[in-house]
Amino acid sequence: MKPSRSILSLLSASFSLAIARDDPAAALGAPRAPQVPRRNPVGLGLGREVGRFLQDYLEQRGYTVYAQPVEGGDGDRRNIFAYLGGSNRTRVLVTSHIDTVPPFLPYERRGTELWGRGTVDAKGAVAAQIAAVESLCQTHEIAEEGGDDALLFVVGEEDGSGGMAAANDLGLGWEAVIFGEPTEGKLARGHKGILSVSLAAVGKAGHSGYPEPGTNAIDTLVRGLTGLQSAALPRSDEFGETTLNVGVIQGGVADNVLPAQASAAALVRLATDRVDDTKDVIEKAVHDASPGVQVEFPYSQGPVPIDYDVEGFDTVVLNYGTDIPNLKGNHKCYLYGPGSILVAHSDHEHLDVSVLEVAVEGYRALIGNALKSG
Ligand SMILES: *[C@@H]1O[C@H](CO)[C@@H](O)[C@H](O)[C@H]1NC(C)=O
Ligand SMILES: [Zn+2]
Repeated sequence: MKPSRSILSLLSASFSLAIARDDPAAALGAPRAPQVPRRNPVGLGLGREVGRFLQDYLEQRGYTVYAQPVEGGDGDRRNIFAYLGGSNRTRVLVTSHIDTVPPFLPYERRGTELWGRGTVDAKGAVAAQIAAVESLCQTHEIAEEGGDDALLFVVGEEDGSGGMAAANDLGLGWEAVIFGEPTEGKLARGHKGILSVSLAAVGKAGHSGYPEPGTNAIDTLVRGLTGLQSAALPRSDEFGETTLNVGVIQGGVADNVLPAQASAAALVRLATDRVDDTKDVIEKAVHDASPGVQVEFPYSQGPVPIDYDVEGFDTVVLNYGTDIPNLKGNHKCYLYGPGSILVAHSDHEHLDVSVLEVAVEGYRALIGNALKSG
């Protein structure tokens, strides 16, 4: 079903403004911002401007909005929580995140496509969620006097999940929570877990011409990394292979100095909930290859099964993490959204407007289903 004209204009207004307000010069209709991507001064897109925009936008439409301060991170940042009517208790919550990864990429329309940082991850989802809720109000499938559905747009999803952690302090609970992330319009059956691994080696500095009395920390580390890369990581039928990315490597001071220190950081995408077994496998593989390497696991989270008992959707299992495990409570979880994760976080992040139109219908169906059941 095609969304009505009013949904589309609403969508395009909320979407273009929500994105553009992080870079006012790039607002629709304003002269185009320079095409050279510039670095966001604070690195991450904190979601501060878009948070203010959403607060205004929703208040103007009769929502009560609470801009919840979130501690930590770089300066003032706030979650936006909004509801209709007199009570903040609702049966369903629709949520996504308004922060973005660096660097900032200006918002731009190219024909029917929307380009720029956050178009896919995750302001496209935010705009489609708002448009869906508004249209359900117009058709009286959501009661304007409240009680059915609330909106929550968090900060910090890309940076430690402080926003969703703070949302637990709202003191509210729901029957169902619908999360928005790029799933290419499919309903997620689950997503992989995460195990972060840090490796460190300590050596003894010395002259490179006389290596015998020293110890080369980089050599020690590299042997450990080779062991790590050959570790047999467990797979599962539902989540597939457990994969490994060695993402950071550091060490040494000059080519003629034996390095005294070297370290590396890796991220494992877990396909099984046997987190402790996986840690043991990794530790053994590293130590068998290089006993001197210190192994630590700063963070872990098993795979997350997600509800998908709604008809009419293709389903998918995802390899990336989300805020789903960070929101406590005994609610059903759904994960759905416009755009592809393969362009999220990239320099060519974009989606087609038609994809957003489909997502509005998808969210309408998910919210409607959650309100019907229970
Ligand atoms: C929810 O409503 C209750 C009762 O009016 C109030 O005490 C509380 O602060 C509200 N919380 C939020 C997050 O709106
Ligand atoms: Zn995201």
